[in-house]
Amino acid sequence: MAIRFDDRVVIVTGSGNGLGKSHALEFARRGARVVVNDLGAARDGSGVSSEAADLVVQQILDEGGEAVSNGANVADFAQVEAMVAETVERWGRVDVLINNAGILRDKTFAKMDLKDFQLVMDVHLTGSVNCTKAVWELMREQEYGRIVMTSSSSGIYGNFGQTNYGAAKMALVGFMNSLALEGGKYGIRVNALAPIAATRMTSDLMTEKVLALLEPQAVTPAVIFLAGEDAPTRQIVAAGAGVFARVVIQETSGVFLGPDRRDAEHVASAWEKICDTDGQRELQAGGEQTMKFLEKAAAELGINLS
Ligand code: NAI
Repeated sequence: MAIRFDDRVVIVTGSGNGLGKSHALEFARRGARVVVNDLGAARDGSGVSSEAADLVVQQILDEGGEAVSNGANVADFAQVEAMVAETVERWGRVDVLINNAGILRDKTFAKMDLKDFQLVMDVHLTGSVNCTKAVWELMREQEYGRIVMTSSSSGIYGNFGQTNYGAAKMALVGFMNSLALEGGKYGIRVNALAPIAATRMTSDLMTEKVLALLEPQAVTPAVIFLAGEDAPTRQIVAAGAGVFARVVIQETSGVFLGPDRRDAEHVASAWEKICDTDGQRELQAGGEQTMKFLEKAAAELGINLS
C-alpha cells in the first residue's frame, strides 16, 4: 500500500541541501505539509542563509505541494521552539520529525580542538535533542509521532578523523533506544537512519564513479518508510546506493567466572569463549542484560532467584 502523508505535518531539519532536501521533496510529493528547516550553513557549520531552504520550498510549491521554510539553528532551543510554535500555529500539529541537520569538523583526535568536538556535538546531538524536545509533548498529546535520527556508519563502526562526528552519531542511537521505549505507549515511534550519499558532506571523499551511484534519492525511501504509519520502532536502518540494511547490536552469551576464578587472568584466558557468537542475541532494553547476567550466574551457582 502506498505510504502517504496527507494531512500530516513533517519537519525536516537541514533540508536546504543534500539528503534533507531529497527527503523534504518526497514527503511533499506524498501529500505532507513540510517545514523545510535550514540554517543555511556551510559544510563546517559557519554562516547563515535562507537561500537553500527557500529554493526547496519553491520547488515543492512548483510541484503543487505545501511547504514553508524556516531558518532555525537546531542547536538553539529557543529558535527550535519558535519553529515548532509557528508550525503548530500554521498547521495545527507535527506528525513527523526528521533530525537530519548536520555539519563536519573532521580532524584526527590528536589535532582536534575541543571547540570542534563540542560544535559537532551541539549540532548533531543537541540539535536532535532540541527538536525532539520541542515536539515531544505535542506528539504525546496527539498520541502519534514518528521521529527519525540521522546516525552514521562513522558512529556505529568508526571512521578515521571523525571522533567528534562518530561520538555524536552513536549518541543519537542511544537517544533513540530510550526514547523509543518512552514513546511507545503514546504511539510515538523512533528510529535511526545510517545513510550514505553523495552530498557536499562527502563530495571530497569519493571518486566520480562512486559518487554517481550514491544519489541522495536512493536513501530517502528508508526515511519515508521509517516515518510512515506502519513504521517499526527502535531500529537502525542503513541506506545508500539503493541498498537497505538493518544494523543490529548484539551481545554474546557470555562466560560466568565463579568466585575462585574471578580475576583479570581468567577473563584473559576466557576471552575466546567470551567472544563466541554461539547464542549471541539482541536485547530490547538495558534491564534485559541485568536479567540475563543474573540468570546465568544463578544457574551456574545453583541459586533460585525468586
Ligand atoms: P549537507 O551538508 O548537504 O546538508 C546538511 C544541511 O544541514 C545543510 O543544508 C546545512 O545548512 C544544514 N545545517 C547545518 N547546521 C545546521 C543547524 N545548526 N541548524 C539547521 N540546519 C543546519 O549534508 P548531508 O550529507 O545531506 O547530511 C545530512 C545528514 O546525514 C547529516 O546529519 C549527516 O551527518 C548525515 N550523514 C550523511 C552521510 C552522507 O554520506 N552524506 C553519511 C552519514 C550521515
